[in-house]
Parts: sequence; structure tokens; C-alpha cells
Amino acid sequence: MKIITILGARPQFIKAGSISREIVKYKEIQEIIVHTGQHYDANMSDIFFDEMKIPKPDYFLGIGGKSHGAMTGQMIEKIEEVVLKEKPDWILVYGDTNSTLAGAIVASKLHVKLAHIEAGLRSFNMNMPEEINRILTDRVSQILFCPTDAAVENLKNEGFDNFNCKIVKSGDVMQDGAIFYKEYAIKPKCKIENDFILCTIHRAENTDDESRLKNIFEALEEISKEKQILLPLHPRTKKILENLKLNIQNLTLIEPVGYLEMVWLINNCSLVMTDSGGLQKEAYFFRKKCITLRDETEWIELVKLGVNTLVGDNKKKILNAYEMSNILNRDNFDLDLYGSGTIESSSHVIIESLKNNKG
Ligand code: UD1
Ligand code: UDP
Repeated sequence: MKIITILGARPQFIKAGSISREIVKYKEIQEIIVHTGQHYDANMSDIFFDEMKIPKPDYFLGIGGKSHGAMTGQMIEKIEEVVLKEKPDWILVYGDTNSTLAGAIVASKLHVKLAHIEAGLRSFNMNMPEEINRILTDRVSQILFCPTDAAVENLKNEGFDNFNCKIVKSGDVMQDGAIFYKEYAIKPKCKIENDFILCTIHRAENTDDESRLKNIFEALEEISKEKQILLPLHPRTKKILENLKLNIQNLTLIEPVGYLEMVWLINNCSLVMTDSGGLQKEAYFFRKKCITLRDETEWIELVKLGVNTLVGDNKKKILNAYEMSNILNRDNFDLDLYGSGTIESSSHVIIESLKNNKG
């Protein structure tokens, strides 16, 4: 059986770390990795393949740093060439980036079976590019691997039971990664104070709106007078901040770090503040409270559990959530929200399903 995996953005490398490690256990499965080039800086791409020992991509398409249309269009053209040449049984895509959508469109046009990992997630905000990417990808997938009960529910509500596809509650492959790589964690070389807060910001809805970004950074500056806020800065945010000239005196801005450094930071911080999707779950895996700098989240089970607080860009809410984070009931973390529902890992459930749906 031949699988073509399409990836291109940081969170996809991290998810592939677990899936590719599972695939190599199967002699009868060949994985061809296609890297679209959506993320291309060494600390946004190469570092993950090196540190996490992910097999090197078989194809590198070199398509990054472009507008949505140009990027997605060029990816479709190049991925199609690879798929026509390789003739895979499955195309595998992760998450909700433009690379995901490009892979999904090629699969559907060429009638190759499509498997979507992280299917069924919804923010119900149609202004998010990710929401469009995931809805379109889900609709043309033959197997939809859902990380949570909420994701399964979303698909059922959209009528997916009536479509020619299979829904599998697989759990979350990011949990497999967090468990596996934890023992390889590396302390980053920068100055790190006790009790620091780990923060990341990169979402278009925050970075592309000057007033939102300003509100968030004002609140972070305020908090960092009391506690160190360590912020590995996404290149998108870095470029925008350079032009805005905000008052950033107290924040510890560092370059993006590799996953092993990130795991150390999550495991050792006192609080996570982020607009990242993946980091919200990782905070939970490492039993850390998370303040989410967005108006909605796909990971609603964390909000329901009370370990994740949605604050958007509202300064008062951000400061209030920070104060409240000190009085968290730690027992809340004991639930298994992201498991596959079996004793098997999510990656194992996914690869077994693909193997058994070969025909
Ligand atoms: C993309 C995904 C987003 C995901 C994020 C993970 C889409 C629509 N968005 O957002 O869902 O959460 O990846 O990090 O696919 N840049 C660099 N070097 C790089 C990568 C990016 O300088 O290695 C800069 C470029 O100026 C680029 C900008 O960041 O234009 C945005 O990159 P892009 O891949 O378009 O979107 P992300 O914001 O990274
Ligand atoms: N991450 C990382 N280094 C960083 C920032 C994030 O390794 O400097 C990891 C993070 O731990 C998580 C993933 O990148 O595993 C999340 O990616 P990102 O926030 O870019 O995208 P999202 O999950 O929001 O789509």
C-alpha cells in the first residue's frame, strides 16, 4: 500500500512525527512525503525533521510566502504531478492549512482516496481561512479521523452520515507526540526565569488587525511586569510587529524554537497564553492552564472543563484570566479528552484503519 502524505506547515510536521513513526512499523506500507514548502525557514521546517527524526520529504515543492490563491493554486499543480507519477492508494492530509486544501483538491480531482487527520473541527467562524480549508477538505475525504467527540458530533450535524465516507474517532495524534518526545525535551538557551509564562501569537485574525494586536500586546506588557512572558515569535508576527512599533519592553521575544525545546517550555512554564490551536491541547497534555487569545476555539472540551479561558483581544478579560489562573483546580486534568477510546495510540488506530480500508 502506498500513501502520499502532504504537509507544509509547522503543526503538520509535528503531527507527522507520530504518524510516520507508526508507518515504518508496517513493511507493507510505503509512505511518500511531499513538503509543499509553505513553511520554509530552518526554524519553521528543517529543525523538526532533524530533531524529531521525521523521514526527509521525497518531494519538496518550494511554494511558500505567497498569497492564499497563488500558494494554493501552485500547490495543486505540483501535487497533481507527483500523484500522477506515484499513483498512491491514499493521500493523507493534516489539519486545516492551505497545504491541506491543495492535497484534498488533487485527491478529489484524480479520484484518489483521501484521509483527513484532525477532521470535524469547527470554529464556526467563516472568516478564518482555516475554517474554509477544513470544511472543504472534510467534504471530499473518504476517511475522517476525528480527534474528539465534539468533532464527530460536528460532522454528524452537517449530515456526513449520509455521505460516502467513514468517520473514525481516532483521538489526537498530538498527544502521541507529546508523550513520545517528552523525555527528549531540551531546555532552550535563552534566559528563563522561574514561573515564566509561555506565549505564542500568529493567527491571521490577530496579526492582521492592528487594534487586536495592540490590545493583546498591551495586556501582555502589563502582565510581564509581574512575571516573565517568553514568546517564541512566528515570522508572520515578527514582520508585522516590526512595522507597528508597539511598546514592547518587558516581553522576552525569541526566535521560533524546535519541538523538543517547545516541549521543555510547555512542561516547565506556569501558564500558557496563545492563539495557536496545537498549543491549547499541549497545555492540557502537560497540565497547564491556557488563556486563549481568540474569540472562539475548536477545542471546546477544554473550555467546558475550565482549563482553557477564551479572552479574545479584550484587555480586561486577559488580565482577569491571568489573575484567575492562579486558583486552578489541578484535578481537572485527569480526564482523557484526546485518546482514541482504546488502549491503542491515535497513530496506531489511524494506520490500522487505512490498512483495513485498502480495497
Ligand atoms: C499557517 C496556517 C495556519 C497555521 C500556521 C501554523 C494557512 C491558511 N494558515 O499560517 O492555519 O496555524 O500556518 O504556524 O495555511 N513566513 C516566513 N517563514 C516561514 C513561514 C512563514 O517568513 O518559514 C512568513 C511569510 O511572510 C508568510 C507569512 O509568514 O507570508 C505567513 O505564512 P503562511 O504559511 O501563509 O501562514 P501562517 O500564518 O504561517
Ligand atoms: N511550536 C514549536 N515552536 C514554536 C512554536 C510552536 O515547536 O516556536 C509547536 C507547538 O508546540 C505545537 C505546534 O508548533 O506543537 C503548533 O503550531 P502553530 O501554533 O504554528 O500552529 P497551529 O497549531 O495554531 O495551527
